[in-house]
Amino acid sequence: MSQTINASSAVETLRWRDGALEMIDQRVLPARFEYVRYGSAAEVADGIRAMVVRGAPAIGCAAAYGVALQAQTLRQVNREAFGAGLESGFELLAASRPTAVNLFWALRRMHVVWQSHSRQGVQDIADLLLREAHEIAAEDVRINRAMGAHGAALLPDGARVLTHCNAGALATAGHGTALGVIRSAVESGKRISVIADETRPFLQGARLTAWEMVQEHIPVTLITDNMAGHLMSRGEVDAVVVGTDRVAANGDVANKIGTYMVAVLARRHNIPFYVACPLSTIDLTIPDGAAIPIEERAAAEVTGFRDCQWAAQGVQVRNPAFDVTPAELVTALITEKGLVKQPNRENIAGLFVS
Ligand code: MRU
Repeated sequence: MSQTINASSAVETLRWRDGALEMIDQRVLPARFEYVRYGSAAEVADGIRAMVVRGAPAIGCAAAYGVALQAQTLRQVNREAFGAGLESGFELLAASRPTAVNLFWALRRMHVVWQSHSRQGVQDIADLLLREAHEIAAEDVRINRAMGAHGAALLPDGARVLTHCNAGALATAGHGTALGVIRSAVESGKRISVIADETRPFLQGARLTAWEMVQEHIPVTLITDNMAGHLMSRGEVDAVVVGTDRVAANGDVANKIGTYMVAVLARRHNIPFYVACPLSTIDLTIPDGAAIPIEERAAAEVTGFRDCQWAAQGVQVRNPAFDVTPAELVTALITEKGLVKQPNRENIAGLFVS
């Protein structure tokens, strides 16, 4: 059976086709648009680690499908082997990338389904896990649309909006978080133009954000990361909207490396700094940003790109993939439940009181 997760989006980051997960290969965009097929948790974990799929919500959806795939591969075994095989799938996926909490959030959700039906037959459990993965992906699009509606109201007609990394449809199951806010504003009739930081070293801004905006004819201007301050000082940026990989209980925000720099510059120039943040990205177990695990990636991402190395051979390299923006620099979190202005421990906790 095939399942289209997000029929309304031009970009289908993940899709279920004939018993397998297919994901757009984000390593090769925009030069090539192609899907890679995945049939097990181990393969999906490799895809997440290699950044075939990336962006916090998309990683969560991919991990959920990874568990569902693992269950499919174990349909013919006895209950004991099924449980052991499934648990090893959970472990592989949890070890794929450390910073985006949506990964662990989605795995926890899948684990609850598995545990609460563990007495049923393995075929039934496999079906239930696939259904939950579909639900997580469909829910992600609904949440992004809700955030989009709340966030769109913040952007004035004609706004020039700077964004960092890619928090678009490619980073989610559809619509996007930060780019979802921009898409929703455009859908509501506002003339919005985007300034995309290229986002060294993996170039999510140049390759992915620029590509998404060009596809939809939303005006976009690409800059290198070190040009943001200059544009702000010339009055050429009206707002910043970014996504996030994990928000601590006090409102500190982890996002793609370079976001902190943008937030400091935005404060210096009195430009509002908004963070589009689904509730699944808030981690109440982490007291503040200092405790958020920051992924360090391979030196080769900094010393060159693909086959081209430009740095001196033998140089030492640091490659932290994320940084933390203190809550005090955040004008508002945009969540599916509405805005959290000047986020702090109290107003964030309030989001989880039903
Ligand atoms: O390393 P990446 O590309 O997975 O990092 C992605 C980001 O930092 C995004 O801004 C974040 O996940 C929010 S995506 C809606």
